[in-house]
Amino acid sequence: MARTPIIAGNWKMNNTIAQGKALVKALAPLVKGAKAAVVVCPAATALAAVAKAVKGTNIAVGAQNVHWEKSGAYTGEISTDMLAEIGVSYCVLGHSERRDYFGETNEGVNKRARAAYAAGITPIICCGESLEIREAGTYLAYVAYQIEAALAGFKAREVAKLVIAYEPIWAIGTGKTATFEQAEEVCAHIRATVKAKYGAAAANAIRIQYGGSVKPETIAGLMKKPNVDGALVGGAALKAKDFAAIVNF
Ligand code: 13P
Repeated sequence: MARTPIIAGNWKMNNTIAQGKALVKALAPLVKGAKAAVVVCPAATALAAVAKAVKGTNIAVGAQNVHWEKSGAYTGEISTDMLAEIGVSYCVLGHSERRDYFGETNEGVNKRARAAYAAGITPIICCGESLEIREAGTYLAYVAYQIEAALAGFKAREVAKLVIAYEPIWAIGTGKTATFEQAEEVCAHIRATVKAKYGAAAANAIRIQYGGSVKPETIAGLMKKPNVDGALVGGAALKAKDFAAIVNF
């Protein structure tokens, strides 16, 4: 069965509540009837307001992180119950900015992903290599390891429902999109990695996004690749027209 494409906008640390509400208000009519699933991921403060603003549209809301514990003394963290209560249905996990600036580890990403999944929140698990690793030629093994670590403890039927985002760090915010072939090579390798461990059904069902300077001009070429099932979009997701053009590739 064909996989439903999924286009998600990671707003990162952008958009106040007012800005976020205005953005989804402008976006909703432009993506109505899209064949791809549409997700926006506001900062924590805007999640509840944006979730309310998209009610009755085909736009779903994702968080940018979640903690694995149900509650407790974890200053600055947010639990799955808190997200579920306000209508959040996706969660970006293990973004390279979290890994690089805030010490996020493969083990932490796995714990967060399992907690999110258990709470009915679909994890969007990020992976991707630095320029150094790309140039050393070890990027396929590096990304495969990130994925194996992130998926530890999941059952095959659960893996089928997850979303993975391959985001080469050298392509994030640089304007330098990976070539369609580079994106396909790694996305295919991720699928093969999933297949080796969890079987063909999980590998065929799991959705793998590409992320890194995706623009309206590059989305069609990316989506033609057999193992690219969507995009995780940063900068271009902050403008309704650009993001809608990507969604409607
Ligand atoms: P840009 O699209 O701004 O390169 O960001 C990609 C990204 O990191 C999405 O999570």
